[in-house]
Amino acid sequence: SGLNINSISRVERVVPFLSRPTLPALLLPSGLHLFSSNAICRSVHHSPAWSFMNLILIHFCFVLFVQPALLQALHMAVLQGKGSEVSKVLQGPLNYLDQSLSKGNTPYLTGVQYLHLFLVATALAFFQYPFSCHQRGDRSYEGFRFEPRSVFSSLPQEGKRNLLVTSALPYVNNVPHLGNIIGCVLSADVFSRYGRLRGWNMLFVCGTDEYGTATENKAREEGLTPQQICDKYHAIHSSIYKWFQIDFDFFGRTTTEKQTEIAQNIFWRLHKHDFLVEDTVEQLRCESCQRFLADRFVEGTCPHCSYPEARGDQCDKCGRLINAVELREPQCKVCRQTPVIRSSKHLFLDLPKLEAQLEQWLDKSTSTGDWTANAKQITRSWLRDGLKPRCITRDLKWGTPVPHPDFKEKVFYVWFDAPIGYLSITANYTDKWEKWWKNPHQVELYNFMAKDNVPFHSVVFPCSLLGAQDNYTLVNHLVATEYLNYEDTKFSKSRGVGVFGDMAKDTGIPSDVWRFYLLYVRPEGQDSAFSWADMATKNNSELLNNLGNFINRAGMFVTKFFEGCVPAIELQQEDKKLLALVGWELQQYIQLMDKVKIRDALKHILNISRHGNQYIQVNEPWKKIKGGDTERQRAGTVTGLSVNIACLLSVMLFPYMPTVSQTIRDQLNAPQSCINAMLQGTGTFVCALSAGHRVGTVSPLFQKLEVDQIEALKKKFGGQQVFDTAASTQPAAVPAPLAEVAMVNGVDPEKAKQLTLAVTEQGEKVRALKAQKAEKAVITAEVTKLLDLKKQLALAEGKSPEPAPQKGKKK
Ligand code: 2FM
Ligand code: ZN
Repeated sequence: SGLNINSISRVERVVPFLSRPTLPALLLPSGLHLFSSNAICRSVHHSPAWSFMNLILIHFCFVLFVQPALLQALHMAVLQGKGSEVSKVLQGPLNYLDQSLSKGNTPYLTGVQYLHLFLVATALAFFQYPFSCHQRGDRSYEGFRFEPRSVFSSLPQEGKRNLLVTSALPYVNNVPHLGNIIGCVLSADVFSRYGRLRGWNMLFVCGTDEYGTATENKAREEGLTPQQICDKYHAIHSSIYKWFQIDFDFFGRTTTEKQTEIAQNIFWRLHKHDFLVEDTVEQLRCESCQRFLADRFVEGTCPHCSYPEARGDQCDKCGRLINAVELREPQCKVCRQTPVIRSSKHLFLDLPKLEAQLEQWLDKSTSTGDWTANAKQITRSWLRDGLKPRCITRDLKWGTPVPHPDFKEKVFYVWFDAPIGYLSITANYTDKWEKWWKNPHQVELYNFMAKDNVPFHSVVFPCSLLGAQDNYTLVNHLVATEYLNYEDTKFSKSRGVGVFGDMAKDTGIPSDVWRFYLLYVRPEGQDSAFSWADMATKNNSELLNNLGNFINRAGMFVTKFFEGCVPAIELQQEDKKLLALVGWELQQYIQLMDKVKIRDALKHILNISRHGNQYIQVNEPWKKIKGGDTERQRAGTVTGLSVNIACLLSVMLFPYMPTVSQTIRDQLNAPQSCINAMLQGTGTFVCALSAGHRVGTVSPLFQKLEVDQIEALKKKFGGQQVFDTAASTQPAAVPAPLAEVAMVNGVDPEKAKQLTLAVTEQGEKVRALKAQKAEKAVITAEVTKLLDLKKQLALAEGKSPEPAPQKGKKK
């Protein structure tokens, strides 16, 4: 069946800005039947207005964005006979389109459907549109929208604050844990969402750091090629960040052609300007593994502070960088043998020669920008020790090739290569990447990372860019977190300690609550710890009793006492006092957020709802509504003010808890103007819901986390692997690092058999509890165990675990 024309014209009325003369191409009957067999069409039928709008948007974005590239590609293939280059031209736009479309607003459009749509759109584009070039890179047309964002690539704009936000590129070969997540992607996400609220022009990029020995090793462990490892883990990272609602403009990877191009260009420029020196290096080679050992794969005693577990590149205790050969009692991390020293010719970045220039730049950047105290201090101590030349080449295969003929067999050292990833990832997002990266006067660069990354971003990488002399954008604000511990220990994959990104969603605790808690304990200024008990407490006291309670009461008063319409407000002294308090908290929030004090700013949101609750408590609108006219009027003012504060809170919450923020705005039926509170940036609180405004359906935002539930989770994730009851068939923890391989990746039929039994048993147990109508917390705990067993079973069978059904979602 085709599309119903009636529904189309209705959509056009609902979405006036899209009813342009170029769009009705989708109405073509020849085009329409192509959609009819797939899910897109089905969803169009289910929800004609919204889905059709998406179709239009997709098409619109295709026309403006992909078509020029497609035309170029076809021109190449047909007229110039350069068929092989077609994929190159199309790759960028397609990557980008793919990411834009998979951003949640078009969840049904994936894989084959996407290809399908692409072909259809291609046909339409050819027959319906003039062959002109369309402008990209301007999304000012859209004004402000919370989500989704524009399908156009963002470029710096004249007269705007243009902020380029990066999150440290996570190593591809590991599943990130909560500490990794709060350290970079989540912090950067909160700030870039905040920036969008403020009306700044933001670009937020990240991606996986894919080259290096670590990847080669992982590949060896898992019996895959490095490329396969990268593909597999890149997908794992993507899905974790998607679940955590990290809203990158682009999430790329370092193993791309753009990376080679840009890294080699920087290399040649450094070479040309004489900032590279050649030297023979003593290297550690493990004879039993038959390879040179990359820094991270050597461990030994730190020559500076005697910490026994220093890595080959850096000591985690004193933070100093180390040359692997300087380690005392070095060991190969793979086989624990003592490596031997061998010589080989390498290239070095001449840091001493760049030192003066670096210091001059640092003085300016650290005094005008917002560098965290730890970032400044680590950088200072680094410079105090004096800079030494840093080797930028390695004897490896899995890396960006060094283009110099004398170093043909070598690749770039990951730490030379990785930060260039920021540039190449941006280049895969937009051809005009240089407008961001070679534009220090128009662009402000924010780098988010954990503190162990600081020297590479404040010293080594800036030196590469300074030496390359191409007007690069250098970091203005270096935002480094301290470490997040897990309970009273460290996260450890090999010991099975801690919560890793892929497990968070299996706990049944919503993504927004995870975000909230991680941001609440963000290691800002000092180390902090994730604690289950504390998470439960904060959820129950701050989210449920404080914030959720206030917003819910405000909304419910409107619904119950005023038939869903916001009552008129007549301010009295008491109300003005509240407004002053709220205004002050809002100002604090803005000031702190502007300085990237994310954790501190969050406290001010919670202060507002605390004031609000007190205000309601004192004024008792539920009593006054039953009184005479003056009393009823008073109940109206209290309700009207409260619901407006709830609306303000939804905006302030947006960077932290995007789904909750949206839910509140849906419940309150809030207009776009409620964001003015932010855009003005003056901290003046203006009521966005005027008298007579009709709210939507109000319902509770949060759920209590029960003690049993938390105990079960703590047991599951803490310390040694805990497998009680049904899971007694589990093998004891395997010693690290092989544990990871065996437990996570090994296909093990014997174990699978035992786990199948365990899953059946546990399933029966859950069913029995449900039948007995046992306490919810008890059931939840057992269900959590069941899900975990299922996941282990999937792994033992070599399948990737199915996404667990969403439990405990707020209603
Ligand atoms: O520490 C890490 O996870 C590194 N992969 C960070 C690299 S950040 C940037 F330089 F790419
Ligand atoms: Zn070895």
